Amino acid sequence: MKKMAIVGSQWGDEGKGKIVDFLAPQFDYVIRYQGGHNAGHTVYVNGKKVVLHLIPSGILGDKSVNIIGHGVVVEPHALWEEINYLQNQGTKVTPDNLKISLAATVITSYCKIIDQARESKGPLKLGTTGKGIGPAYEDRVSRLGIRIEDLRNLETLKNKLTKNLREKEMLMRDLYKVDYPSVDKEAEELFEMGKKLEPFMTDTFSLLTEAHEKGKSILYEGAQGVLLDIDYGTYPYVTSSHIGLGGMHTGGYVPGGKIDEVMGIVKAYTTRVGEGPFPTEQINAMGELIQQKGNEFGATTGRKRRCGWLDIPSLRYAVQVSHLTSIALTKVDILQGLPELKVCRAYKYQGKTYETSFPGMNLSEVEPIYVDFKPFNDLLKANTTFNDFSPELQTYVNYIQDQLKIPVKFLAYGPDRAQTLQLQ
Ligand code: IMP
Repeated sequence: MKKMAIVGSQWGDEGKGKIVDFLAPQFDYVIRYQGGHNAGHTVYVNGKKVVLHLIPSGILGDKSVNIIGHGVVVEPHALWEEINYLQNQGTKVTPDNLKISLAATVITSYCKIIDQARESKGPLKLGTTGKGIGPAYEDRVSRLGIRIEDLRNLETLKNKLTKNLREKEMLMRDLYKVDYPSVDKEAEELFEMGKKLEPFMTDTFSLLTEAHEKGKSILYEGAQGVLLDIDYGTYPYVTSSHIGLGGMHTGGYVPGGKIDEVMGIVKAYTTRVGEGPFPTEQINAMGELIQQKGNEFGATTGRKRRCGWLDIPSLRYAVQVSHLTSIALTKVDILQGLPELKVCRAYKYQGKTYETSFPGMNLSEVEPIYVDFKPFNDLLKANTTFNDFSPELQTYVNYIQDQLKIPVKFLAYGPDRAQTLQLQ
């Protein structure tokens, strides 16, 4: 397979990092195409926990070239810290295996300050990660953004930041009444970071074109999940980027125009961090139990994740939105031994039954219709095959495949790289 994508199919935190890490050794290039260091991809390698925020998970293998595409928003200090963190624990990170697009947008201090001020002072509390993601995408769309290539020139930085700050200054000084660095200070800091990051800066468009022409394989690594997509997600409780298939084309570049396989990562239940509707949320002892068993804390902010049952109408929607062709079902072990097991098969909404969500459906008004499953007690281990599963687990997996009409190719049953079964 030449081009494959990994996409979160729920509200993020589905375990994408682990699957990318598992697959990356087969790919020549791994590219992040959207989001920023709001993402937290946790991977366990030989029992050691590694959390990646910005750098593609392929960095943990020793074969792939890892790309931060132009659709990503990059906080230079956070990136530099992540490079050091990886190097300090023995991972090779060099300009040969990490490339940052010259056209990626920079998250400035102003972005972060405004994001955090909005979260604490309104007008709308979204429960963002506070990393400046939304304001950086606003910069880009308003055409006042700072780009990675700008970090190489102090004068350019000063000029662009002066324009960038003009409206923002009113927000920070007059509306939110928060402190912010001067243009000179911000420019100098960014310029210092630019010196460190310059060896990694690359024309990733030509790099990918060349890779395609040479028949190299490319893996697109999505962050967050389709239900957080700026256009297809539960607006306004979304992140600010294009998470699904569209984002790969606009923020990553797909030479040749076609991705052979789009694998949706589906956690065997559902979680959400931050504000926003969540139809199958269990605000009860079951939700607590799943939260504890699954150790459901945000990898970036440490916040407790909200937990609930698997939600088929939203997943069907994710399959359609991102043209998913297969599934990796993760954290199946967390459901093992639960006293009950349910899946939402449809929604009741405004007097009608819906099997699929749609943009504009107000998920805070839907009533989930559940199917009960017999809980399973399987203790999964390496080399287990589908036929070894208990009838209860087979029924659960088959139900998901039948409803979504795509195969479950991988099943993950623990955090380690090795705790992944290939079913097909
Ligand atoms: P932002 O991306 O920081 O602007 O946050 C917007 C929403 O997306 C908030 O609800 C966040 O909790 C959520 N979010 C952002 N990144 C992630 C992630 O990697 N996993 C899960 N939720 C995320």
